[in-house]
Amino acid sequence: MKKISVKVLRFDPEKERDPHLETYLIPVNDGARVLHALHAIHDGIDSTLAYRYCCGSGQCGSCAVRVDGEPVLACMEEAREGIVIEPLKLPVKKDLVVDLLPMINALPHLEPAGEPVMLSKQDIDAIKPLRSCIECLACLSVCPAMDVTKFLGPTAMRQEMRLALDPRNKANRITEAIREGLFTCTTCQACWKACPKDIEIPGKAIEKLRAIANRNGLTLPRHQEVATLIKETGRSVPKTEPTFLELVPAEVIEPYGEVKGTVGFFVGCMYNMRLPKTALDAIEVLRRNGIRVIIPKEQVCCGSPLIRTGQLSFLDTLKRRNIDSFVFRGIDTVMTMCAGCGSTLKNDYRTPFKVKDISEVLAGCGIEPPARLPVKATYHDPCHLLRGQGIRDLPRQLVCQVIDLIEMPSICCGSGGGVRSGNPEEAAALGKRRGGEIQKTGADIVISSCPFCEFHIAGYTDKPVKNIASVLLEGYTEKDRRKGAKAVSRPNE
Ligand code: SF4
Ligand code: SF4
Ligand code: FES
Repeated sequence: MKKISVKVLRFDPEKERDPHLETYLIPVNDGARVLHALHAIHDGIDSTLAYRYCCGSGQCGSCAVRVDGEPVLACMEEAREGIVIEPLKLPVKKDLVVDLLPMINALPHLEPAGEPVMLSKQDIDAIKPLRSCIECLACLSVCPAMDVTKFLGPTAMRQEMRLALDPRNKANRITEAIREGLFTCTTCQACWKACPKDIEIPGKAIEKLRAIANRNGLTLPRHQEVATLIKETGRSVPKTEPTFLELVPAEVIEPYGEVKGTVGFFVGCMYNMRLPKTALDAIEVLRRNGIRVIIPKEQVCCGSPLIRTGQLSFLDTLKRRNIDSFVFRGIDTVMTMCAGCGSTLKNDYRTPFKVKDISEVLAGCGIEPPARLPVKATYHDPCHLLRGQGIRDLPRQLVCQVIDLIEMPSICCGSGGGVRSGNPEEAAALGKRRGGEIQKTGADIVISSCPFCEFHIAGYTDKPVKNIASVLLEGYTEKDRRKGAKAVSRPNE
């Protein structure tokens, strides 16, 4: 038995105006769960503490709370020293008990077809990934779209897709889902990561519903325009300036010193068409650290804007062209520096080569230390790097070699899932919220690792928004300057 200190947000709306945090020192056994900590408070210190539980084994969903801001099942989460336990982001009835009924009642229901229909094994298998929901509503507490729109939420979309796959249902689930906010989802994947039943709502429900909407001619006009552009040009953004693929001087860029590794570079539409300087900065950093870079010029859009918006008709053509362009050159590791492209290549392609984010490549080779820069930075986690690729620490480790980092909450900036083009007001509201978080840190600059995030966030902060590669290159340039050496030059200079 040991003693730990935990904080619990207490609130009785009938008696108090505002919630307050209460600290408790409680005895717990090793491996105790948050639910055991709540029992210890209730039974030994304050019997007025209100919280829910039933099964105690992760099956009923009734004990969901937030621990240190993240929604979890109290009966499954370990009780650790110093944790803060709060209710889900739903109307509070008392302490940790929230009002679930409005949301549960709003969930889509099966509307039976006239004749009885038997489910086939195929139907059951298709529905399976979506049916294990325990209605804990943890996913609602992390959804950025719900914070700024009337979106009914992730589990409502899960239920719509589950019903769309059920032959016993007669209602049109797609028009329902669109009415409930299908196109407001930024595909940030926060709901999937929060779900105790590991239900892949963005990929298995939202993108699938959007694909059915597309087959029914219900894709948003702005998303259709992007698809047309990709079909006609191979790129998701129009050309306005010389591209990275035009500017980079050769297909194979050799490092300055000994070759420590070779990667194929998948540049992606945004770095190729809108931010070519950032991609050139990355090439310099790779050269400096012994990485040979091969850049197939025939590569095209990865197809992410099509997958996220459900427009799949010519996706396979893009995939084949991209895969062939690297396979043809015998490349066994393809590097991305766009979080969206990386997530797509890793999760939506079946590639015969490894795919690595630039942070994995640089951390893997062990970089030459750059000079430290006298500024403070905050780091924005791109959803498709943090959750899409599970990469959190590597970018921070790289950034910390050159700049002091001030952390901020990892929340979606609002640019993904076709929201920036399809729902600009929502994207602006989320961008503004992100700008507010950046402001609170007091940092001089913002660093990220995704061109969509960088481009979007730049509209909502007065701080410079930079890519990790550009910041590392600044560190090397400063190091050279201090040594009196000739500043690093670009490959096309
Ligand atoms: S992916 Fe993100 S925006 Fe979409 S439903 Fe899940 S939490 Fe909400
Ligand atoms: S989808 Fe997952 S997180 Fe959301 S209510 Fe169901 S079980 Fe809970
Ligand atoms: S008490 Fe049932 S899931 Fe936690």
